[in-house]
Amino acid sequence: MLPLSPREIAAVVGGSPHQLPDPDALVTGPVVIDSRAVTSGSVFVAIAGERVDGHDYAAAAVADGAALVLAERPVPAPAVLVPDVRRALDALAASTARRLPAATRIGLTGSSGKTSTKDLLGQVLAQDGPTTATADNQNNELGVPLTVLAATPETRYLVLEMGARGLGDLSRLTRLVPLDVAVVLNVGTAHLGEFGTPEVIAQAKGELVEALGPDGIAVLNADDHRVAAMAERTQGSVTLFGLSARARIRAEDVSLDALGRPRFTLITPTGKAPVALRLLGAHQVSNALAVAAVAHRLGLPTDLVADALGRADTVTGGRMQLFDRADGVTVIDDAYNANPESMRAGLQALAAMGGGRRTVAVLGAMAELGDTAPEAHRAVGRLAGELGLGLVVGVGGEEAELITTAAAEHGCAVHRLPDPATAAAELDGGLLRPGDVVLVKSSRASGLRAVARALATGHS
Ligand SMILES: Nc1ncnc2c1ncn2[C@@H]1O[C@H](COP(=O)(O)OP(=O)(O)O)[C@@H](O)[C@H]1O
Ligand SMILES: [Mg+2]
Repeated sequence: MLPLSPREIAAVVGGSPHQLPDPDALVTGPVVIDSRAVTSGSVFVAIAGERVDGHDYAAAAVADGAALVLAERPVPAPAVLVPDVRRALDALAASTARRLPAATRIGLTGSSGKTSTKDLLGQVLAQDGPTTATADNQNNELGVPLTVLAATPETRYLVLEMGARGLGDLSRLTRLVPLDVAVVLNVGTAHLGEFGTPEVIAQAKGELVEALGPDGIAVLNADDHRVAAMAERTQGSVTLFGLSARARIRAEDVSLDALGRPRFTLITPTGKAPVALRLLGAHQVSNALAVAAVAHRLGLPTDLVADALGRADTVTGGRMQLFDRADGVTVIDDAYNANPESMRAGLQALAAMGGGRRTVAVLGAMAELGDTAPEAHRAVGRLAGELGLGLVVGVGGEEAELITTAAAEHGCAVHRLPDPATAAAELDGGLLRPGDVVLVKSSRASGLRAVARALATGHS
């Protein structure tokens, strides 16, 4: 974080010093909420969770090198005491976000692809200057302030993944961190059960661009009408990306190579350059264009952007992560999460990667779809059939059954397995054959990450 003394921290968060040996010794962070992540000079934020109370770890955190604890009650350690640590964390982040001397603050939201795109953007901008980006999927009311506090005085680009589970979430986050650039990727059906309709999702995601001032930059998806319509809701200047002709940042000649990796020509107002991504699936083109649009607006040359896009790798696990096994089986771990759009994208990538090899989709339930769930699962099975996948393995209960039944009706060979442990054992015990390409995908709650890990390492 930006160097601050305990005295200054106490002033920013409205807290009182407690057992501070030297209130003026500068603290530089990082700020952590998990005592196991403490390193020398950390600020440990003691949060009382449902299962563990951070206050119980305050002394251990300081023993491990933490300079200071932010706490709600006296702890046997140097601390700043506040009535509400989460509010204090917000206050510290809000103050930091406004004081970062060199940083362009970029926020990114959408129904699918936030983490993938944030990782891509982080890698591209890092070519131009010190970049601090969201780690993993830390996109909520805790993760965003923690990411801001991970920035340093040198940070040139602050890349923030921002999630929304309801109306007002993104407004709150942008009040915490005023953005210079706001990116909306797409409006899909993730969390439809909570939101109700896609229009409500669009309303919620659009809050990101609503918060921009006249100097702000809005980067919007031209191919998603609900996102493109957000141009009306911002004072910022808009750049559209996508395949459609009205997009300023476009891709032409899109194709997938034999490994399912997209290639295209990137077109910007200042140039044209070939891009060959290492990432899997046609849906990555849209993510790459969003990145190119941000980079273009920030003045990066098209050639450099195209080159950096081509060198970027998957960073956060479980998103179209590729493992080539010694026995010739290729495993794609996309089991971090799933919704109807990302299922479609994953299955299409799998089909594209077949090229004579048998394609196997190991699929589980998509969560949080409300009333649309049964039809959404049937649609997955139908698509598997239409794509001519070699085998569909449904893992779990009713939803898996809906998938396999529809897949079988559309000509796929199918198999049902009751749970992830059985699936891992049976897939490696004979269901999979050398040379297969296997996609593993479901919502987190369905637990297929364990299957993906077992298959990727060849040990179940
Ligand atoms: N533009 C996109 N459209 C559809 N699906 C996508 C897109 N980008 C990524 N995905 C898929 O969506 C799932 C979630 O990706 P992730 O990057 O973690 O998104 P988020 O952070 O928004 O949840 C993964 O299966 C990923 O392959
Ligand atoms: Mg994410």
